[in-house]
Amino acid sequence: MTAATSLDPTGPIDPTPHAAGPVAPAPNAADLVDPAPQAARLVDPALHATGAQHEIWRWMREHSPVHRHEPTHLPAFWSLTRYEDVRAVYRDPGRFSSASGVLLRPTELREDPGAGMTLALTDPPRHKELRGVVADWFTARSVRALEDAMRGMVRAVLAQVIEAGEADFVHDVAGRLSIYTIGHMMGVLESDHETLFRWTNEAFEAGVSLAAHQELMLYFIDLMDRRTANPADDLVSMLLGGVVEGSLLSEEEVLLNCENLVGATENGRLALAGAMQAFLENPGEWVRLREDRSLLPSAVEETLRWTSSATHSMRTATEPVTLHGQQIEPGDKVVVWVPSANRDESVFPSPFTFDIARKPNRHLALASGEHFCLGATLARAQARILLSELLDCVESIEPAGPLTPVHSITVNGPEHLPVRITGK
Ligand code: HEM
Repeated sequence: MTAATSLDPTGPIDPTPHAAGPVAPAPNAADLVDPAPQAARLVDPALHATGAQHEIWRWMREHSPVHRHEPTHLPAFWSLTRYEDVRAVYRDPGRFSSASGVLLRPTELREDPGAGMTLALTDPPRHKELRGVVADWFTARSVRALEDAMRGMVRAVLAQVIEAGEADFVHDVAGRLSIYTIGHMMGVLESDHETLFRWTNEAFEAGVSLAAHQELMLYFIDLMDRRTANPADDLVSMLLGGVVEGSLLSEEEVLLNCENLVGATENGRLALAGAMQAFLENPGEWVRLREDRSLLPSAVEETLRWTSSATHSMRTATEPVTLHGQQIEPGDKVVVWVPSANRDESVFPSPFTFDIARKPNRHLALASGEHFCLGATLARAQARILLSELLDCVESIEPAGPLTPVHSITVNGPEHLPVRITGK
């Protein structure tokens, strides 16, 4: 990039997305009339598209770190917002179970269909065995072996958007990279990657689970049939041969775990697109990275902390727990807000500053403990490859219109990020 690009402090940056973006700086507490009742707004997906949730979390971290939410369309739950509490809950699956669901769901939908069956929705010791079935595909060695393929995908995708001159960075770059990669790992034919991408987009943009997308589920059933007949070296074959507690996984378990793996990449695409947004909004940090590539690893960590694209995780208490004077009872739902933990001022100096050299940076964007993100190494590699290819191949990249933020209490980031892009 040259000094004349929009990723230069002097370059043309569209101000529109900044105020609306989920990573916008928190407003002052004094701007909130009475922050206490504002906490109830956390269940409103629209709030999370404004940036205002950060000030509510800041108030909660200080004044109500274990905050009770009465039932709405969602069940009653406790909110935890401080870094140490969020980390402690993630690291204590004995007292905070994942088995009946890890996301807030409208009460009318009842229990998550994957409860007790998918990787995310099982507790130890079953969880450990199930994770062992697929873990080999996500080790540092396996991800390294995928790097050339991922770099090739990034180059191909960037070449297309450079030729077009404009792109939706979420859809055309981050989304394609995320889905093509998991498709490759699962054994989806390369000629079907684009179809898989279209179906997952439809589901993500409609805010529905992949399980609700009939064509996608039928595709996986067909793929499972093909792999049962002819096992190959891929994730679907691993799941089909997976033995947990002495028994092969059922077809339903294999299917739901396929859905879980593909669905989990939504966090990845939002984190990649959110990283782009962060650099567009902080062009000085892009110049810094361009001038000192040794900052790439810490820049990747900072984009993860900054974007925190998984907004919450839920657990169910299994025994009475007293925390900061509040009594949590067995069966109570406990929600940890990840972007809040990652902006905790007692852990991160100047938490609302995007600083690509930040160290230490022990963020919780990828969780912690037993359920630590299985795709963590993959997600980090994707971000590193994408940023370095952008530095290598792109002359200038600038906003081509206002971004649209995701409206969700589950994930956050840009839903659409239009950019104008010129190659070198
Ligand atoms: C930067 C992008 C990503 C973020 C921020 C992220 C975040 C998370 C978080 C917070 C959890 C814990 C959920 C919980 O226990 O409640 C998790 C788990 C998981 N993630 Fe990621 N994730 C990312 C990318 C990926 C990718 C690319 C994959 C690839 C398939 C993936 C697969 C998984 C799986 C399978 C789990 C469940 C692990 C388990 O329960 O043992 N993630 N992720």
